[in-house]
Amino acid sequence: MIRVNEPLLGKEEFNKVVACLKSNWISSQGKYLSEFEEKFAHFCGVEYGISTTSGTTALHLALAALSLKPGDEVLLPTFTMGATAFAVCYCGATPVFIDSEPETFNIDLERVSSYLHSQEKRGKVKVKAILPVHMYGHPVDMDPLLEMADKFSIAVVEDAAEAHGAEYKGKRCGSFGAFGCFSFYANKIITTGEGGMVVTNDLRLADKARRLKDLAHAPSKRFLHTDLGFNYRMTNLQAALGVAQLKKITSHIKKKFWMAKEYKKGLKDITGLRLPIEKPWAKSVYWMYGVLVEKALGLSRDELMNQLKKQGIETRSFFIPMHLQPVFSRGHIKAKRYGAYPVAEKLSEQGFYLPSGLTISRDQILYICQQIKRIVRTYRPKSS
Ligand SMILES: Cc1ncc(COP(=O)(O)O)c(C=O)c1O
Repeated sequence: MIRVNEPLLGKEEFNKVVACLKSNWISSQGKYLSEFEEKFAHFCGVEYGISTTSGTTALHLALAALSLKPGDEVLLPTFTMGATAFAVCYCGATPVFIDSEPETFNIDLERVSSYLHSQEKRGKVKVKAILPVHMYGHPVDMDPLLEMADKFSIAVVEDAAEAHGAEYKGKRCGSFGAFGCFSFYANKIITTGEGGMVVTNDLRLADKARRLKDLAHAPSKRFLHTDLGFNYRMTNLQAALGVAQLKKITSHIKKKFWMAKEYKKGLKDITGLRLPIEKPWAKSVYWMYGVLVEKALGLSRDELMNQLKKQGIETRSFFIPMHLQPVFSRGHIKAKRYGAYPVAEKLSEQGFYLPSGLTISRDQILYICQQIKRIVRTYRPKSS
C-alpha cells in the first residue's frame, strides 16, 4: 500500500534520541528543548519559540496567552481541522465559522470583512481574534487580513500547523500574527512524534505563554499560582527528534515542491480533476497534494478513492467543515454560523488528498497518475 503520508526518519534522529536517553534528561528540561525552540523560531523568522505537546495545545496556549474569555468571538474558517475550533472553545470563547474561498481553500476575507463591518454597524465588535489557517500549506493572503485586524484591534493567531516554511511575499508563515502555531505530528513537514510550538515576536506574550504551559507557577515562587496554567510541556526526547528533523527541513520542503511538480505533470490534462494552485504572492509547501473531483470527471470522489484503494493507493478525504460537526450543533458548546457555506461544503464533498509523504518516489507518483487516468477512462458504475 502506498501510504497517504509518512515521516522521513534516519540515523540522525536515532542518534539524537539515543543521546538524549543517555543523558538522562528525558522530561521537559534539557538542551534539546532550547535548541529546538530557538532554531525553529529562527527558521520562521521570529524571535521566540515555545514548544508544546501538540498543535492543538499550541493553539489553545496562544489564545489563552491573549486572555480570550467567554463572550469573545474568534473568526476562523469552517473548512479546517477540529483543533482550530476546539482551541477557541477551551477558552470559553465563541468560534464564528466563515466560508472559504475556492482557489486556495483559505478563509474568505470578504466574508471576514462583511462580518466585522456588520458588527461595527450594530455598535459592538465582539471579535477579539482571527485564526487564519494556511490550508494544506498554501498561505493566506495576509496583507488584507492584517489590515482588517489592525483596523478593528483584533489579534491574529496563525494556524500554521500544515505550513512549515510556506511563504507569503517572501516572509514565512507563522511570523505575521501575535502568535504562529505549528504542529509536529508525524504527518507534518517535520515531526517530533507528537508536539507543537507557538512562535512570537512579543516578549511579554512569549513569557506569558511559557508560564501558562508549565502550570503558571509564579515567577517569584514555585508552587504559587496566580493564573490557571496547563501542562503542555514537550519532552527533551521529542525535542531531540525535532532538532534532527529541523536540519532537514529545507530538503523536506524541496521534496514537497518536487512532488507537487510531478503530480501536476502527471495529472494536468484530466478534465474534471482540479489540481491545487499557487498564488503569485505565495510559496506553498504542498503539505498534502489535495485535488477536487468535479462532475466532469464522470465518477465521484468516493468512487475514485475506492478504486485507488483497490490498486494499493491510500488517500484521505478533505476535512468536514466545522458548521456540519455534531459537537457544534447540539447547542451545549457555543459556536456561531455566518451565512451559507457553499465553498466549504463543495471542498468537503469533492476533495481528497493523494499520497504526499516524504518517502514517496517518482515511480510511485507515476503509478498513481497512471492509475487515476486508467480508472477515469474505464470506470463504469456497478448498476450500468
Ligand atoms: C490545520 C490544523 N490545525 C491544527 C492541527 C492540530 O495539530 P495536532 O494534531 O498536533 O494537535 C492540525 C493537525 O493536523 C491541523 O491540520
